[in-house]
Amino acid sequence: MVERSIAASVLTRRALIGGGSAAILTVAARGAERLPAGLFTLGVASGDPLPDSVILWTRLAPQPLDAAGGMPPIAVPVRWQVATDERFAHIVRAGEARAEPRWGHSVHVDVRGLRPASRYFYRFLAGGETSAVGRTRTAPAAGTPVERLRLAYGSCQKYESGFYAAYRHLVADDPDFVLFLGDYIYEGAPTAKDAVRLHRNPEPMDLGGYRVRYATYKSDPLLQAAHHAAPWVLTWDDHEVANDYAAALDQNNTDPAAFLLRRAAAYQAWYEHQPVRAAPPLGPAMRIYHTLDWGRLAQFQVLDDRQYRSPRGCQTHVRGEMSVSVVKDCPDLHDPKASILGMPQEKWLLDTLSGTKARWNILTQQTQITPYPRRDPAHPDGPADMQTVDTWQGYQASRNRLFARWQDASVSNPLVIGGDIHAFVASDISYRGKALAPCFVGGSITTQAGDKLLVQNTADLPAYRFARNDVRGYGRIDVTPTQCDVAFRALRNPLDARTEAYDLTRYVVEDRRPRMRAA
Ligand SMILES: [Fe+2]
Repeated sequence: MVERSIAASVLTRRALIGGGSAAILTVAARGAERLPAGLFTLGVASGDPLPDSVILWTRLAPQPLDAAGGMPPIAVPVRWQVATDERFAHIVRAGEARAEPRWGHSVHVDVRGLRPASRYFYRFLAGGETSAVGRTRTAPAAGTPVERLRLAYGSCQKYESGFYAAYRHLVADDPDFVLFLGDYIYEGAPTAKDAVRLHRNPEPMDLGGYRVRYATYKSDPLLQAAHHAAPWVLTWDDHEVANDYAAALDQNNTDPAAFLLRRAAAYQAWYEHQPVRAAPPLGPAMRIYHTLDWGRLAQFQVLDDRQYRSPRGCQTHVRGEMSVSVVKDCPDLHDPKASILGMPQEKWLLDTLSGTKARWNILTQQTQITPYPRRDPAHPDGPADMQTVDTWQGYQASRNRLFARWQDASVSNPLVIGGDIHAFVASDISYRGKALAPCFVGGSITTQAGDKLLVQNTADLPAYRFARNDVRGYGRIDVTPTQCDVAFRALRNPLDARTEAYDLTRYVVEDRRPRMRAA
């Protein structure tokens, strides 16, 4: 705090924006001594590529573990540059953005006028400092043929549970972009048990707390390197806010109004730390579902299955009691009025699927979607008559509407990727007795195994081709017009930042053949 007030007192305040008591001061001078040193501790990032545009991101945070990032409460101009070369000899776009205290001094620049299917380099300048250089790329022009796309996807990167070796290998794979499927942070209080490293702040309940948690994660050099290497496209899952939340209900069914205040803080902190094209949140509301188009080759339908989902079915709790995540089947799970996406997003998805002209249609979402009956954790040798209600399994009418649309609209090559369950799972989705789509889940970047019974539960299910929950890592997909080649990339030792990665297994999905085959 002392450093901050000194820094603030020497700032040159030249422009007064706004008026009255809400006036925001802008630093117009850019002398190095006028802002705290080390503005770019959280690195840079790019995301949500279009044929002519990418989003560039940074956040000024000289003291990242301070709720205000160690910044004075004034708006700061931040210059940005986009070049075709790493040394910035050929700058093709440049401009100035404002880092405002109300958004944690984050910057989101929508750079327009770029060439399709092109690689660019970018950086920011503020307070006499220059950020790290990021590398990004634009999407191919709409409707054009694309011969090859390589993407990587990951989820579940609990800071305390391991180092981010996965990202070193992901960077070496040189993907065109990275899909992140949720659990970018974990909101829990510090846990010493099995922790390889600790974050310092308690469970966040407000904006300051979530900012500190994101800053802790984003201080990791391997995570920063992964953002520097390629554009990211992100969705979120539960832990960006609170474990197993459903719309306005947290796991403990506390007061929804109070939870929505917490959700608003969490969504804002997510926005402040991610290179997303989405408009900033309005209170607890932020639309993040969207499509990513890669020429004629692929469309990614990026979903948000948390913000709008119906309450969990088959619960016997009352307010203030923890909800149950594994239940005996009951009519709630088949209720046609229930939706895991909420009806507006579900309608958007179904309409999008009816209209897509892409060769591959990749559902980019949080979790396991293939039907998964399971045994009672208390009776692991008993019948598989239990349902996991936190996934699509808890919203089966909603899931059937999706499957029916894929089938009835003859959607070209639907394929699902997911995270959430901290396991590598490859499975075949069928509907009305016909093969429909492959589903590839996981693994987790660091988070330990979740569903301990997963392998046992799926061993005798023909739909499940592969299931391992004792390894961590990421997924890599090479997409061409004729096939998708999916590799589960596992880490030898997730507790070692220098560990090796290897192909745990690989599957090939051929054009117009909805069943995967082993590579
Ligand atoms: Fe997770």
